[in-house]
Amino acid sequence: MKITVFTSSPNKDGLTAACGAAAKEGAAAMGAEILHIDLNAFNIERCKACGNGWGTCNKEHVCKTEDDFEQIHSIIADSDAYVIISPVYWGEMSESSKAFFDRLRRCEAWKKEESLLYKKPVIAVAAAGGSGNGTISCLESMERLLKHMGAAIFDLITITQKSRAYKITTIRESVMEMLKCRI
Ligand SMILES: Cc1cc2nc3c(=O)[nH]c(=O)nc-3n(C[C@H](O)[C@H](O)[C@H](O)COP(=O)(O)O)c2cc1C
Repeated sequence: MKITVFTSSPNKDGLTAACGAAAKEGAAAMGAEILHIDLNAFNIERCKACGNGWGTCNKEHVCKTEDDFEQIHSIIADSDAYVIISPVYWGEMSESSKAFFDRLRRCEAWKKEESLLYKKPVIAVAAAGGSGNGTISCLESMERLLKHMGAAIFDLITITQKSRAYKITTIRESVMEMLKCRI
C-alpha cells in the first residue's frame, strides 16, 4: 500500500510541514509506503494554456512544458491514496500547489476512469493562519479539483494556528482511517 503526501509551503517548520509530518505518522502506523512530495522543492511552471487553450494534456494526457511536472506526474501514478496539504494564501491554495494541480487536472480529467486519481481516496488539508479567513474557499477549490479528476474524497480538513493542537491529531487519525479502508 502506497500513499503520496503533498506539501507546498516554503516554511520547513511551519503549519503545513507539521500537517505533513502528522499525515506521514498516520501512514507509517499503518505500514504504508510513503512518498512525500514537497512541491516547493521542484521547478513547476504555471500552465501555459498551449494552442487554443488545450495542448497535449487534452489528448495525450501529458504536459509538454519542460520542467519537473512530468517527473512527479509519473511517480505518483501508482499510489493507492493521497494527502494534499496546502497553506491558505488569499483564500486559495499556495501558488506551488495551484501550479502543479492545475496541470495535473488538465492531464487527468479527460482520462475519466483511467485518471490516476479515479476512485482513489484523498484527504485535502487547508492550513491557514490566525484569522482562518478563506479556509473554506481554499478547500472548496481543492474539492472541485479532486472531483474533476474522479477522486474519492475521504475528508476535507481545515486547520488554523488556533485549532492546531487537536487538528494535527485529526490529520494523523484520518490518514489511518483512510488507509484502513484500503487494506
Ligand atoms: C501570501 C500569503 C497569504 C495568506 N493568506 C491567508 C489567508 O487568506 N487566510 C489565512 O487564514 N491565512 C493566510 N495566510 C497565512 C498562512 O496561511 C499561514 O501562515 C499558514 O500557517 C502558512 O503555512 P506555513 O506555516 O506552512 O507557511 C497567508 C500567508 C501568506 C504568506
